[in-house]
Amino acid sequence: MKYSKVWWKEAVIYQIYPRSFMDSNADGIGDLKGITSKIDYLKDLGVDIIWLSPHFKSPNVDNGYDISDYENILDEFGTMADFDEMLAALHQNGLKLIIDLVVNHTSDQHEWFKQASSSKENPYRDFYHWKEEIPNDWVSFFSGSAWAHDKSTNEYYLHLFDKKQPDLNWENQKLRHAIYAMMLFWLKKGINGFRMDVISLIAKDLDFPNFPLNRFGDLSYYANGPKVHEYLQEMNQEVLSKYDCMTVGEAFGVQAEQAVSYVSNDGKELNMIYHFDHAVPREESCFIAPKKEFSLVELKFIFNKWDKAIGTNGWNTVYFGNHDNPRMLSRFGDTGKYFQVSAKMLATVLLSLPGTPFMYQGDEIGMSNANFTEIAEYDDVQVFNAFEVLVNQQGNSSEVFLKASNQIARDHARTPMQWNKNKNAGFTTADKTWLKLNDNYTHVNVADQVEQPNSILNYYKKMIQLRKKHEVFIYGDYIDLRPNCNKIWLYKRCFEGENLLVMNNFTPTTQSFQFDFKINNRILLLTNLEEVEFLENQEFTLTPYESRIYLFQ
Ligand code: NOJ
Repeated sequence: MKYSKVWWKEAVIYQIYPRSFMDSNADGIGDLKGITSKIDYLKDLGVDIIWLSPHFKSPNVDNGYDISDYENILDEFGTMADFDEMLAALHQNGLKLIIDLVVNHTSDQHEWFKQASSSKENPYRDFYHWKEEIPNDWVSFFSGSAWAHDKSTNEYYLHLFDKKQPDLNWENQKLRHAIYAMMLFWLKKGINGFRMDVISLIAKDLDFPNFPLNRFGDLSYYANGPKVHEYLQEMNQEVLSKYDCMTVGEAFGVQAEQAVSYVSNDGKELNMIYHFDHAVPREESCFIAPKKEFSLVELKFIFNKWDKAIGTNGWNTVYFGNHDNPRMLSRFGDTGKYFQVSAKMLATVLLSLPGTPFMYQGDEIGMSNANFTEIAEYDDVQVFNAFEVLVNQQGNSSEVFLKASNQIARDHARTPMQWNKNKNAGFTTADKTWLKLNDNYTHVNVADQVEQPNSILNYYKKMIQLRKKHEVFIYGDYIDLRPNCNKIWLYKRCFEGENLLVMNNFTPTTQSFQFDFKINNRILLLTNLEEVEFLENQEFTLTPYESRIYLFQ
């Protein structure tokens, strides 16, 4: 056995974006009680671990990724009693919970920052990065300089995200220990681990040099700072090693060759990371000229590269969507005629590639990008800041900006969950939802799909159960059989005499192909069609977006 068997390797993770999952108190905003009310749904779906996007007290400039109190709950989401109740109910139903750890930065409303900006002598001053003058040409992920002026002390502080999200100074030992104490607070409550927000960015080069030549604006330059591994090892020793918990780091700017240094089997840092190689590029300029979507060959290349780079020295993750990317169906599937079958095909790939899979809420019913018709319909600080710079200051066309945003904006993934075809998709009884609904909820919703045996939702359930039945889905080697083909993603998974053949047609046309090896005693485990044409030879034909999984010897 090449891998040790661990629960988080065998789990399917499901991300909940609380603001958009379920509203229990009719204010148009999802909340913790809303999540608790849907635990039966999650259990029935068959997922094992819930990743909850931030639920902490926050002025909500970046939807909770700007935390003002790590040990309290965002008012709109409820109370600590609601959190405890949700956690207990998840555990009673055999589900685990990981929470978001956002410690690259806080909100400017956090007590630490309020203290720090009150005077240069304040003991919390050094929890953040301060300079008398702007020291370099760094830019923020959310537009403009990464340095903001603080009026009260007349100095500049670093913010890699919005200016209301000042970056923490991890060099400060007191700060690090305050973070560890906060992590222990949540672990003592019984949470099962953390998803760590932009953890690759925490360690800054304290010389604060300019971007290197020819790399101006390359945000990945901020990643993998000098002491990142030292800090993660300390965090592991002080906190993580004391619990049977799991960690997954958001690894912006980490290259495949660097992955093992974060997730090595020696267990000194993190269990897993997730990379950005196939994420939608969203530098400021993309809001005028979005980059071309990845081709299937590029996508396969990225997955193959990460599979090889981590190998048996650590453990991989798989995702195609989250709250920071447009919907996976809109990116890689078909939202028209082949909507159902292509959503199921993507489910097949997501849940059969090697690595722990991360599902994102709503993908299990085939939710797709919404159609935002004006900038005011968006809610995202990234869109607003980019609009200010690109349109208001630089004079680019607002139509061009809107068109690009409709392709790349994060809000596509943040529209409310579509529970049924009633008013507001059953998400809230309020008159208005906090972000507009995707108007396809009348025909894309949970209630309908629960009833339809061949729905996308029921396909996900089948696929998840299949993973649980055959260890080869989890521990099997991965062999890409057609790395250079832009039409089908065809691979084998092999583990202790059990072999899988996974076939996925990524096109709206029929594809035929042959194998140069014998596929003995094949059994069709799963198909996304109602009927499959079965040929008794080595030749296969896949209709548009068809997927099949065979077990063979
Ligand atoms: C990554 C999070 O996923 C994203 O939503 C957030 O805006 C930034 N980090 C800043 O916390």
